[in-house]
Amino acid sequence: TVYPDQYEASKKVANKIKEIILQKQSIGKNAVLGLATGATPVDVYAELVKMHKEDGLSFKNVITFNLDEYYPMQPDSKQSYVAFMDENLFSHIDIKRENIHIPDGTLPKEDIANYCLEYENKIEEMGGIDLQILGIGRTGHIGFNEPGSAPNSGTRLVTLDDLTRRDASRDFGGKENVPTKAITMGIGTIFKAREIILMAWSRKKASIIKKAVEGEISGKVPATYLQLSDNVKFVLDREAASEL
Ligand code: GLP
Repeated sequence: TVYPDQYEASKKVANKIKEIILQKQSIGKNAVLGLATGATPVDVYAELVKMHKEDGLSFKNVITFNLDEYYPMQPDSKQSYVAFMDENLFSHIDIKRENIHIPDGTLPKEDIANYCLEYENKIEEMGGIDLQILGIGRTGHIGFNEPGSAPNSGTRLVTLDDLTRRDASRDFGGKENVPTKAITMGIGTIFKAREIILMAWSRKKASIIKKAVEGEISGKVPATYLQLSDNVKFVLDREAASEL
């Protein structure tokens, strides 16, 4: 779906999230959301905060799993996705702390493989993800699944692409300060979600959106794997859709 601008598009996505939360509330169940970071979902989170403050939307029955985190990364570092989620969403709503899951960037390397399996298991235990929201990196990554990622990949430690590190350099005051690795849910993990919404705004994303939607399905552009699923929706502004 193409919207005139990212604000209108973000409102629609926030409304969809609200619907899921309310529907689950009405049957006494938890809503399980897969969340993303980056500039793209910021207005969705702002809209959800507004719904909480102005309309009393409660997040007490919401469980969240974030896609990824840099590695290594301390949660109290200002570039961490923990800090990002707190600042943009969690500190403004009534979600229970124990319901928030973000990959742990502080683990010793030898513990990561087990931790990643546990992350997957936890998602299953909670009943699976009802809605996964995604942005897209200019390499075609979703989460931090860079080119070369397998379609059935699970949560794991990955090496970041050079372009991804360059794109993140502003946040870190130079590319040399951007971690070279990250822990990310896999393409296979993302695919298990019952619904997936990928959002992209601005001309900067137009060429990768063209590849993701119309290009040959290949690990060279991991987002092309989304073409294989019926449960995926792309929500774009006019500029991001301009090459389709
Ligand atoms: C980061 C995140 C991705 C995100 C991408 C795009 O690398 N790990 O989940 O989709 O960047 O970022 P932005 O939304 O800022 O364009």
